[in-house]
This record gives sequence, C-alpha cells and structure tokens, in this order.
Amino acid sequence: MPLVHMGDMLRHAYENGYAVGAFDVVSLDFINGVMAAAEDRQAPVIVSLAESHFAYFDFDLLMAAVERAAERSTVPVAIHLDHGESLESAVRAINLGCTGVMVDASSLPLEENIVHTRAVVDMAHACGIPVEGELGYVPGVEGEDAERHPGEVVYTTIADARHYVEATGVDFLAVSVGTVHGRMKGEPQLDFQRLAEINQTLGLPLVIHGGTGLGSEQFARLIENGVTKINYYTALADAAGRRIQANLQSAECSGYTACVHGVADAIQQEAARCIEVWGSAGRSAALLEHCRPRLPVEHVITYNTEGLDETGVEEMMAEGRRTLGAIPGVRRVFTGHAVQDNAAYRHCWLVRFAGSAVIDSYRDHVDHQHFADTCFRPHAGSRMSIDFEDSDTGH
Ligand code: 13P
Repeated sequence: MPLVHMGDMLRHAYENGYAVGAFDVVSLDFINGVMAAAEDRQAPVIVSLAESHFAYFDFDLLMAAVERAAERSTVPVAIHLDHGESLESAVRAINLGCTGVMVDASSLPLEENIVHTRAVVDMAHACGIPVEGELGYVPGVEGEDAERHPGEVVYTTIADARHYVEATGVDFLAVSVGTVHGRMKGEPQLDFQRLAEINQTLGLPLVIHGGTGLGSEQFARLIENGVTKINYYTALADAAGRRIQANLQSAECSGYTACVHGVADAIQQEAARCIEVWGSAGRSAALLEHCRPRLPVEHVITYNTEGLDETGVEEMMAEGRRTLGAIPGVRRVFTGHAVQDNAAYRHCWLVRFAGSAVIDSYRDHVDHQHFADTCFRPHAGSRMSIDFEDSDTGH
C-alpha cells in the first residue's frame, strides 16, 4: 500500500534537498505515463487532479483509477486536489480519496483568503489530510498559451506569507516568484532572493506552480531555496499532443486507438526527464522508510433493531448512507443485512474512514450525532461497534 502521508513525503524532500513532481492528470494515458515514469525512476510521485480540468474528465471515475494505480505501485504516492475552489470541493476530494488538498483563494484579499483557507484547514486536519495554500498570483492557465492569459504576476511578500501561514495553519505554501501557468515564450525571470527570504522565514515545504518552461538551472535554485513540490502539466499535455499529431500524419491512422497510440509513452518520457532534474529519482526506498502509510479505517457496527418494521429499517439505512456519507473523511457507507438466519446481529454499517483521525472527527460531527441520537440509537439498543485499521501496510 504505497499511499503515504503527503506531509511526511514533502518533509523528507525538504530535508534532503529535492522536489517531488505533482503531475496533473486528465486521462488514463496520463495516469499510466506518470506512474510508469515514477516506477522506472523509483521516485515518489504526487498525482494531481485540478478542479480547473473537471470539464475534461469525471472526477469520481478518474479518482478510482488513480487510487488503484497508487495501490498497485511500488513507489510512494500521494493524491492531490489541485486548485480546489471551495470547502465543498475539498470535502469531495477527501471523500473520493485525495490524500492532500490545495485551497486556491489567492485571488481574494488577504484576510478573506485566510478565512477561506482556515475553514479548509480545520476540516482537512480533522481528517488527517494536509493542505496547500497559495499566496500571490501565478497568471495563466495550465495547458494553454500564457499569452492568452496575460495577467500580471503578483509576487508573494514575506510579511504576508508569515501572517498567512500562522493564521491558517497550512502545511505547504505555493508561492508566486515569477512563474506562469501554461506555455510560455522564453524563460520567466524568477525572484530567487524573495524565495530565499520566504524559505528562511517559514521553514515550510514550498510549492511552485507553472513548472512548464523552466530550465534545469532554475529548478536547481528553486529546490535549493525550499521548493519541494513542482506542479507540472502543460509540457505533458504538449508531449501527448505532439504524439497524436504525428499519429495523424501516418497513412494507417484511423480510429481512436490509432490516434492515441503511444501517448502514455510520450508522457512517461517527459515525466521521467523532470524526475531526474528535480532529484527525486532513486528516493523511493528511503522515503518509504520515512513516511507513514495512509491506512483506511473501517468503522464497523453490527446491530439489531427494535420498534422498526422492514421499511423503517430500509429508510433509516438510506438516510444514514446519505447523511453519514457526506461527512468529511467518510469514503463509503455500506449498509447490510445478515445472510445467515441465525446471525447474532441482523444488520450492519461499514463506514470507511480516510484514516484514523476521522474516528474522532466523525464521532463529534454534528450530522453524525444528530443521526445517531434521533434515527439510529433509539432503535438499536443491541449493537457492537469497533474501528479496524487496514492491516496491509505494504511491508
Ligand atoms: P504548467 O501547466 O505551467 O506546468 O503548470 C501546472 C500547474 O501549476 C498546475 O497547478
């Protein structure tokens, strides 16, 4: 089970002077290409899903594939919501399996950004999930020409960064030091002095958005100054696009599969190149030693009911699936009836938590308490409840 705590992962990178690639994925070819690169180079990897890309894929379906890819990998993986726009998006991402979330309220005035970010941090930390915040403005749009989105860079200031991190409790900070999202002409000018001061002030893993188009020297200096997570998309998308264009030029190319042939390989090559440049190649074994695995917890309740007919039991279960399934950190609510007639308990709840932190936050959550006090406990005097942590730690 190589899904690991993203906080542990980025701390290791911070303390050992390298950066982990956070590659945005939009399809199975991207997942395959990125994971193959990480496996081949024995590198930790962050698979990111950007809310700005949700028009191009079904978040729910792609998350299932990303999680499966992480489970079967041998290298440490974190799954991240990139540019999350709201508290609701962050809850949805955690409940679908993200092990880190970004809250992007950087377009708001500082104090509003703080309030918005703080709410996400409180919710996510109660689920044991780390949060990336952003200060300043990195213009452009992933996957598009930077010239089409010519906003001005707003640089992160040292004073704001200190205040924001203290007031919000974010685990990682995305800083604006001159990068731009998307395809650029030429290399951007980066403010390394500013980055060095932010790093000295905060002592916290830093994140760079808009990795596409930066040179190896620039990456080296970013990493020297505390950058441990590099967000990268446009160059992967362009490698995929070039491959499709080349396929289209071949006389035999007709039909979808021929058009996308080799796309995952093209993405793999570009991701592997970055992994080498960012120094994360060959870090997998040391990182697995250092990082806590992310283990789901199954909250198991078996029970018998009194004073409810069959319809009443079904209604109570349906209400529980709806209410409890929306609580932050709840991955799935299974309700079941005993198959054997002589079972000591007739019914069950299996509530899967994202991790052990959710045991407390779920118990105390107002929606859980209301459901338990009004719908469940009055009819289920006879019950047994146990939390089980996944025993498959991957070792
Ligand atoms: P690029 O598309 O410029 O690589 O930036 C990606 C990014 O920052 C995603 O958050």
